Amino acid sequence: MAETVNKEINKTVRRAVVTGASSGIGAATVRALVADGWQVVALARREERLAALAGELGGACTYHVCDVTDEASTQAAVDAVLAGGPVKALVNCAGAAIGKDPVATASLDDWRDMYELNVLGTLRITQKLLPALKETEGTVLVISSTAGIEPYEGGAGYCASKFAERVMARVLRLEQIGEPVRIVDISPGMVATDEFSLKRFHGDEAKAAAVYAGVPSPLKAEDIAECVRWALAQPDTVDIDSIVVRPRAEGSYTKVYRER
Ligand SMILES: NC(=O)c1ccc[n+]([C@@H]2O[C@H](COP(=O)([O-])OP(=O)(O)OC[C@H]3O[C@@H](n4cnc5c(N)ncnc54)[C@H](OP(=O)(O)O)[C@@H]3O)[C@@H](O)[C@H]2O)c1
Repeated sequence: MAETVNKEINKTVRRAVVTGASSGIGAATVRALVADGWQVVALARREERLAALAGELGGACTYHVCDVTDEASTQAAVDAVLAGGPVKALVNCAGAAIGKDPVATASLDDWRDMYELNVLGTLRITQKLLPALKETEGTVLVISSTAGIEPYEGGAGYCASKFAERVMARVLRLEQIGEPVRIVDISPGMVATDEFSLKRFHGDEAKAAAVYAGVPSPLKAEDIAECVRWALAQPDTVDIDSIVVRPRAEGSYTKVYRER
């Protein structure tokens, strides 16, 4: 009897884990979910940023430092999350583009770092939280990218990692058919966040600014957060397999309207 009651409680719990929560889309997602009534555990490496976010949001947001490329760090964060109660959603937002060099001259280190973070980091924490998510009829959500749908010149390393991330989500969905878990992939196009392009160009502000130059209204982090909030708000039996979302001014990575 107690077990049945616990199962019912677990299904209605609204407690989410968001990786990459210290900036950009992840931080916006934490805010959107808290505003929608969720308890959120924010994960990233920069503790001062997480502490500020938690302070802003009061008791609805807690945090743990977590480097998803590091096994021990991720295991410690997952242990702490699970000690705090059941988990209904994992939002995989930690990720980065590093470099934009052609295949002929690209840095192996940049490619390796992107694969470690975007692919293996997502895989690592998803594997660790999947059993708990199934106990609550929960959701694994991946923020991949339109870079995982259509490759572009200079983007092979990032695109390959985002293709891999999308394939991981798609195959997990197929493998979990019949199991009480949803797998959702959200693929954003151009989102103007403070750090994404700066990191891509190793701190070169001019190159980072050129990405968004003249684009009337690139997406904001809050636009993607709203997609996450909406996808998670659907009934447990409705799986939003995939959302592709771009600014109106972007038809593809190479077809972007810019005002001069
Ligand atoms: N901006 C875009 O145009 C765009 C478009 C499509 C998809 N996306 C995807 O959306 C996601 C978020 O992008 P964003 O624009 O919000 O970028 P962002 O502001 O740079 O956010 C990246 C987040 O990942 C975290 N992170 C980086 N390395 C980590 C690690 N090893 N372990 C744990 N967390 C780590 C960062 O925090 P710490 O440094 O504190 O760890 C940060 O919170 C990424 O997966 C990106 O590929 C972005």
